[in-house]
Amino acid sequence: MNHVLVVGGTGAMGRHVVQRLLATTDATVTVPTRRPESAHAAALAATAPDRVRLVRSAPATLEALIGQVDRVFANTDFFATGSAVGEYRQGLHLLAAAERAGVERFIWSSLDSAVSLTGRPVPHFDSKAAVAAHIGLVRSEEMLRKETDGWYTDHVSILTTAPYFENLRDRLTPRPDGQGGLAFKLPLGAAHYPLVALDDIAWFTCHMFDNWQSWGARDLAVIGKTASPATRSPPPSPRSRAPPAPTSRCRTTNCAPQCPTSATTTQRCSSSSPTVISAPETGTSTSCAACTPP
Ligand SMILES: NC(=O)c1ccc[n+]([C@@H]2O[C@H](COP(=O)([O-])OP(=O)(O)OC[C@H]3O[C@@H](n4cnc5c(N)ncnc54)[C@H](OP(=O)(O)O)[C@@H]3O)[C@@H](O)[C@H]2O)c1
Repeated sequence: MNHVLVVGGTGAMGRHVVQRLLATTDATVTVPTRRPESAHAAALAATAPDRVRLVRSAPATLEALIGQVDRVFANTDFFATGSAVGEYRQGLHLLAAAERAGVERFIWSSLDSAVSLTGRPVPHFDSKAAVAAHIGLVRSEEMLRKETDGWYTDHVSILTTAPYFENLRDRLTPRPDGQGGLAFKLPLGAAHYPLVALDDIAWFTCHMFDNWQSWGARDLAVIGKTASPATRSPPPSPRSRAPPAPTSRCRTTNCAPQCPTSATTTQRCSSSSPTVISAPETGTSTSCAACTPP
């Protein structure tokens, strides 16, 4: 039986990882939290009281917990420190503690480096990416030194994710577009917006843990779908001001909030039957056939 520490385990991402670990393995799961008595923490523990251990914790006290487990999934919370350097240091601290403790499998939950890819800093992306870069740097050192069991090479994997589809439901809720439809708006410009479902992050996390040898501690970057930028139609001519045909807009509120494509385009969904976007097992990411780009 494995003992897994899930850093951020009461949060949006970590909670899905904990629940999948509980559903698909016999592992015990330790979850650090600032408030074990909070409703979200208590609800998580109640799903499997004999296998979930909530521990009141701050980042500085995680080292003791790391010494009690053989696997770690670490999704640190940038917003708790509010500092790119702060989260970077927290990540390095966790890694160093895990190496000292001889943790068998450590997954660092990362994001792409916005500043490297675009030249524009996004602190909560860049801090996680800096930790991933550190992992790569130490692997290089281990290779140079011909270490036979370089801990960063053999016992650390990086899972790079992306903004959640669920943000479109919870934080970027659709608003009436004034034409009888609902629209998500994001300042994308010509860029694309990669998204991933929380269930899929959990799926890949467990897959990496369970297939460590076949992965050879390699890293993985996952997204479920990339939302396209808006393509606005020219303003209608006076003759074409009639209301749009019923089939040219989304009629169901069940459909629109789940549809990542309609979030960022002016396309309208005409389908009331969402179809599944390729997702590994859970198929939780849904979109509408009518507004999925070719
Ligand atoms: N939102 C997205 O689309 C997205 C996508 C990919 C990555 N991320 C990254 O994910 C991170 C946030 O995780 P989340 O999305 O799961 O958010 P969340 O739901 O706000 O969860 C934050 C988690 O961090 C924990 N935490 C914060 N400070 C802590 C402390 N001092 N000691 C112990 N635990 C602490 C919280 O625990 P308690 O509240 O129980 O103390 C909670 O489990 C951010 O760094 C963000 O950049 C977000």
